[in-house]
Amino acid sequence: MNPSSLPVSTDRLVARLEALGRVGALEGGGVCRLALTKADGEGRDLVVGWMKELGLDVVVDGIGNLFGTRAGSRPGPSVMIGSHIDTVATGGLYDGNLGVLAGLEVIAALNDAGIVTEHPVTVAAFTNEEGARFQPDMLGSLVHVGGLPLEEALATKAVDGAVLADELAAIGYAGEASIGGIEAAAYFEYHIEQGPVLEAEAIEIGVVEGVQGISWTELTLTGRSSHAGTTPMRLRRDAGLAAARIAAEVAGLAREIGGDVVATVGSVKLTPNLVNVVAARAVMTVDLRHPDEGILRVVEARFAEIVDRVAAEEKVEVARRTLARFEPVAFAPALVDRVEAVAKRQGRSTRRMFSGAGHDAQMLARVAPAAMIFVPSVGGLSHNVREFTAHADLGNGLSVLAELVLERAGHANVDAAASRGAV
Ligand code: GLV
Ligand code: MN
Ligand code: MN
Repeated sequence: MNPSSLPVSTDRLVARLEALGRVGALEGGGVCRLALTKADGEGRDLVVGWMKELGLDVVVDGIGNLFGTRAGSRPGPSVMIGSHIDTVATGGLYDGNLGVLAGLEVIAALNDAGIVTEHPVTVAAFTNEEGARFQPDMLGSLVHVGGLPLEEALATKAVDGAVLADELAAIGYAGEASIGGIEAAAYFEYHIEQGPVLEAEAIEIGVVEGVQGISWTELTLTGRSSHAGTTPMRLRRDAGLAAARIAAEVAGLAREIGGDVVATVGSVKLTPNLVNVVAARAVMTVDLRHPDEGILRVVEARFAEIVDRVAAEEKVEVARRTLARFEPVAFAPALVDRVEAVAKRQGRSTRRMFSGAGHDAQMLARVAPAAMIFVPSVGGLSHNVREFTAHADLGNGLSVLAELVLERAGHANVDAAASRGAV
């Protein structure tokens, strides 16, 4: 065996992915482990149990981020492998879970090979990456890097009205460890692509150069409820119609500007939401993204104009709330180069790309060199119960991750181990 590689097992990784996928499993496939729900708590229990079995020193910080650390030959910052285990309500087995469980597999392989690394190696699972229940997304990693004060994060209200601090305490993960206490010398996140590019181009490894900018807004449109049969169209103040017009115009805007602009209205809630009543209120979300901050700002400005115009025409009032706003992030070029070099050295086809999805790595990039490895998603599907990545692809990314971690963490007992025939 090459001293720079590790005896990782894709079978063991897949067994853990499947076991975690049974927690919060949906009938017919997929998973619902929304952040800080009972299912998330059970998923965390499983992961913490595995961390302890592998001999890791487990700590939980004040926002519920989990860290399992394998000591190195000298103290200091860790080589950190991280991601998340919360899911959207209609999630799959891979988004986030892959990064955390691949981290555990690297640890298992280090243990099996009897390797002592110079740097500690830490596996991290960050709280509420998805942002489906609490906004913003990447909340745990944002707090970890000092981008959001803990008290503010703990006061965050869920879409179901629950307060984050209460939910964290209810599942037993209001930890005591200090925020940012575990420092990263480098951060690696291994993730499924969640889009169609790698599959379409038959590329094995995506070398991620950065993450596009994200802008999430909640609009509350207030009109007046009235009788659907008796109220002439010209006399309505229909919040439902205003929401529908905004949704259609925002999609039209993305198509008109073209390129990489994406715009999504993923949630619209009408009140009173009845067949024969003009809606008095619509609460809707708008998700805008682009890899270029300047273009994202133009899209945001045009979106604001659409909202003002439609609201005036439909005679509804508008309240706006920013749910998340993150500028595009570029990963550390030297580390990105290493991802590419290691993947190529292992014989994999590679492609450089930007991430369309948000990731904890974009937060960790504020405090440490960070990089990501992508593997193909079948049909480009994610945030979908049919999300799937083939066994061989999972193995390809795992091998790249393992080599990168060992390279970065340093191999303290390489000579002793080699002379024992352990490597
Ligand atoms: C997080 O999964 C996102 O919405 O990109
Ligand atoms: Mn993810
Ligand atoms: Mn996701």
